[in-house]
Amino acid sequence: MKKFVVFILAVFLVLSVTGCGNNSQPTTQPQNQNNAVAQPQDSSEKKGKVDEIKARGELIVGLSADYPPYESHQIINGEDKIVGFDIDLAQAIADELGVKLNIVDTSFNGLIPMLQANKIDVIISGMTATEEREKSVDFSDIYFAGKNLVLVKKDSNIATIDDLKDKLVAVQLGTTQEAAAQKAGMKTKPINLLTDAVMELKNGKVDAVLATEVVANNFIKLNDDIKAVYIKELADEGGGSAAAVNEGNKDLVDVINKVLKELKDSGKYDEMINKWFGA
Ligand code: ARG
Repeated sequence: MKKFVVFILAVFLVLSVTGCGNNSQPTTQPQNQNNAVAQPQDSSEKKGKVDEIKARGELIVGLSADYPPYESHQIINGEDKIVGFDIDLAQAIADELGVKLNIVDTSFNGLIPMLQANKIDVIISGMTATEEREKSVDFSDIYFAGKNLVLVKKDSNIATIDDLKDKLVAVQLGTTQEAAAQKAGMKTKPINLLTDAVMELKNGKVDAVLATEVVANNFIKLNDDIKAVYIKELADEGGGSAAAVNEGNKDLVDVINKVLKELKDSGKYDEMINKWFGA
């Protein structure tokens, strides 16, 4: 009798373990994306991120396409395309790996969680390599750095930090601009898309928008009713932009840094900077 109970228990245990294993391992998820959760039985266990990308045949890049000239939607020959410096960089990395480029456009604030959930291989989204983020992701070399400007209506008198007291400053949610505005004691309105923040400025719902220089200047080009002002206390962006990968994906960081170096050595990087960030 005792043996029988043990047998039943054992069968039950085996069934529940395999059942549970199947549920927690959705078949749509590529295997072995993260060494920390690699399956011991998986023969591809020792493969790195780069091998995984090559086997899949595409590099999945996450970004928030509300950020011209880093990345934004543009209608080209009647087709909605995402273009910008980050796209050219992403394409160069995909070319180096010999794979297709697959771009996932999502809210900036959701990019690191998506990376950690292995839904994307890398974030290339004008993301500042901050110490705080370093705790959860690994960054490539910095590829561009700038300072923040404050966007206001063209007829606005706002020129100093004091002028912004009791005013509402829109910032993109989860960005270093949000942190800078909060640090300076501003009343902030976090908004998911920077394009929407600029809309709110134009409609008078907010008094200012904090954005990095090249992005601010691009919005001015597209909207003749706004201007940018430099306010020292809000200028620090907190670092330069870099690509972010999951912790430990050193093989992928090495490829990205190699591409950056080759682009610089060949003069292509300067061309890209001029094309997208030039005056
Ligand atoms: N550099 C800022 C940060 O890392 C803002 C980046 C926003 N990027 C974007 N694609 N909207 O927090």
